[in-house]
Amino acid sequence: MALDKNLIDQFIKVTSKAALSSSYLVGKKDKIAADKAAVDSMRSELNKMSIQGEIVIGEGELDEAPMLYIGEKVGNKNGPELDIAVDPLEGTNFAANNLPGALSVIAISEKNNLLNAPETYMEKISTRVAEKNVVDLDYSIKKNIFNLSEYLNKKPENLTACILKRPRHNKIVTELRDLNVKIKFISDGDVSGALLVTDDKYSVDIFLGIGGGPEGVLAATALDAFNCSFQGRFLFETDKDKKRANEMGINDFSKKYELDEIVKGDSIFCATGITNGDLVSGIKIDEDNFISETLVTHKHSCFKKVVKLNQKIIR
Ligand code: FBP
Repeated sequence: MALDKNLIDQFIKVTSKAALSSSYLVGKKDKIAADKAAVDSMRSELNKMSIQGEIVIGEGELDEAPMLYIGEKVGNKNGPELDIAVDPLEGTNFAANNLPGALSVIAISEKNNLLNAPETYMEKISTRVAEKNVVDLDYSIKKNIFNLSEYLNKKPENLTACILKRPRHNKIVTELRDLNVKIKFISDGDVSGALLVTDDKYSVDIFLGIGGGPEGVLAATALDAFNCSFQGRFLFETDKDKKRANEMGINDFSKKYELDEIVKGDSIFCATGITNGDLVSGIKIDEDNFISETLVTHKHSCFKKVVKLNQKIIR
């Protein structure tokens, strides 16, 4: 079974409205308020839809987050049963500080087709090479770089690796530098970071390192449509993390997830820009209308959609 194509425009509207709501708080140095605005809007729009949706990646657990928590049912209880992964504001620092790259993101699949992921870190690797055994989370950095270099017919010094700038990545960065690989650091926003492997124009050959697990699942959904590779492995630090994972059906705590274990079958991914970024432009004003731009993936097609939002501008 495939997802109804009419859902695409409806989900573009959901992320566009969340992006617009958050955009009023861009540069106000309040990441909690910017996040809340996006969450409230996304929840309200999802609840207007004729779907039976369940949040499988969301804003935390029931006891922590009353809005869009994992397990929350959304929609008006009519229509298709869907798994929904949300990150209403990806890049809270970007929005709060008016920096490039803040997005509002959603991914959907048919019921039971998206990995139900806990809020924990994930070790990730992605490239534009779909073939197996070229790069792998279990290989050393050296082996991954040499394999990729051979596959792409590019010397290691001409390869670029994208990685979150975090002290936990110092060892990987040293290894990459020893191999002469170019490094593109990102300060936040590793959904976008992972997607930079999708097109030569971003000049990124490999994305790697540790970031949020939910962000990993969201990026994987889009990478699937771009026919790129992705592997992820959750990192469970505490017994509480492991207990939660267990309740979500994860028993093997060191399992390496392949893309087709993260997202199965048909899926839709929408990422709307809040501030301008590598992937999409942020919310803009054009004469008397707000305009949003959304990156959409569905099956193996990827496109951008610009939408005029029906919202009054108060000057
Ligand atoms: P928020 O939007 O929730 O602030 O997340 C931003 C982000 O950079 C993610 O893209 C990334 O996966 C995660 O934080 C990394 O976490 P940390 O900042 O703890 O290293």
